[in-house]
Amino acid sequence: MFEQVKMAPPDAILGLTEAFKNDTRPGKINLGVGVYKTAQNETPVLECVKRAGERVVQAETTKSYLPIPGAPEYGCYVREMLFGADSEIVQNERAVTAHTPGGTAALRVAGDLIKKSFPDASIWLSSPTWANHNGVFSAAGIETESYPYYDAANKCLALDDMMAALAQVPAGDVVLFHACCHNPTGMDPNAEQWKAIAGLAAERGFLPFVDFAYQGFGKGLEEDAAGLRAFCRAGCELIVSSSFSKNFGLYKERVGALTILADSADAAARVFSQMKRCIRRNYSNPPAHGGALVTTVLGDPELRALWEGEVKEMRDRINGMRKLFVDTLKAKGVEQDFSFITTQRGMFSFSGLNKDQVGTLREKHAIYIVGSGRINVAGMTPGNMDVLCEAIAEVL
Ligand code: LMR
Repeated sequence: MFEQVKMAPPDAILGLTEAFKNDTRPGKINLGVGVYKTAQNETPVLECVKRAGERVVQAETTKSYLPIPGAPEYGCYVREMLFGADSEIVQNERAVTAHTPGGTAALRVAGDLIKKSFPDASIWLSSPTWANHNGVFSAAGIETESYPYYDAANKCLALDDMMAALAQVPAGDVVLFHACCHNPTGMDPNAEQWKAIAGLAAERGFLPFVDFAYQGFGKGLEEDAAGLRAFCRAGCELIVSSSFSKNFGLYKERVGALTILADSADAAARVFSQMKRCIRRNYSNPPAHGGALVTTVLGDPELRALWEGEVKEMRDRINGMRKLFVDTLKAKGVEQDFSFITTQRGMFSFSGLNKDQVGTLREKHAIYIVGSGRINVAGMTPGNMDVLCEAIAEVL
């Protein structure tokens, strides 16, 4: 049977990590996968997580299963982070949450839920979007469509085209938005633009699906929820996938969440029952450790304050690298204007480098970036900046 199976192509992002690991050249630089690095080129365990880890291990009395949607207190903290602790939504139980193995599982469970509940709905994705979005929703059997998002020539949002396309989305379809730190462009709508988008969603009757993987990496933990909350204010029902992979550095623990906001607590409870069926058929119930770490940190004022400081530190370092990158390119004699990179937010920069340039950087300089030209700014350090910018200057 297996003789007939064809080799699959490597994954656009995680496949790069594999290739990078196999590269034996000294001084190689990985700016592919969205993983944070310190100035010393390490992806550390956050201090708040280390301290919570000791408590979690001490307090653990059983390895028995979690409920299908995970621990209820985890869901409470997720909803507080999304909607704000004093939100009417939290109090009126109009939102339900499941702990999923990473944000990716939240997307897939949501995909299954959409297919089951609204079999004819298509999902609209920004162009461009995260390299895995299409695959996840297609795997769930959903038709994917795309709407314009980025103006590559002017390095800004293609706002007019986006609004025109969204105005044509049929009622009952689903439209996916990146809450902040758009992956791969790093360009987000501002408050006024979010308000207009949310107004359109309410008026047209499409269902917004907010993918929130980078809370705290844009402007701040609260500030980054502005887009999501604009949809709430407009009275929309919502699907939200979120993740603690980046802002807690818990990548391999797979700590994500799927939250549904409905018009009534009653509808939310019915959707939750369907969500649990989808989960049971996928992975049964989530792994416990990462969720316990997050719950412990968010439930302890001292650890929480420590965490907020650590998120700020990561955000500030990335923004510092954006500036150093633009300055160093200039110092290396690059005349092209790269100042747009300092206006982008989050881990990624959409550099504008084309496939050939990306290929040469990898073959000749052992520098790994995603084929779309997406650069992980969080992988830049003061130590690798000169080499990186000299190589980019050479391929431009
Ligand atoms: C990325 O876009 O690099 C991250 O979200 C990691 C991943 O799973 O692709």
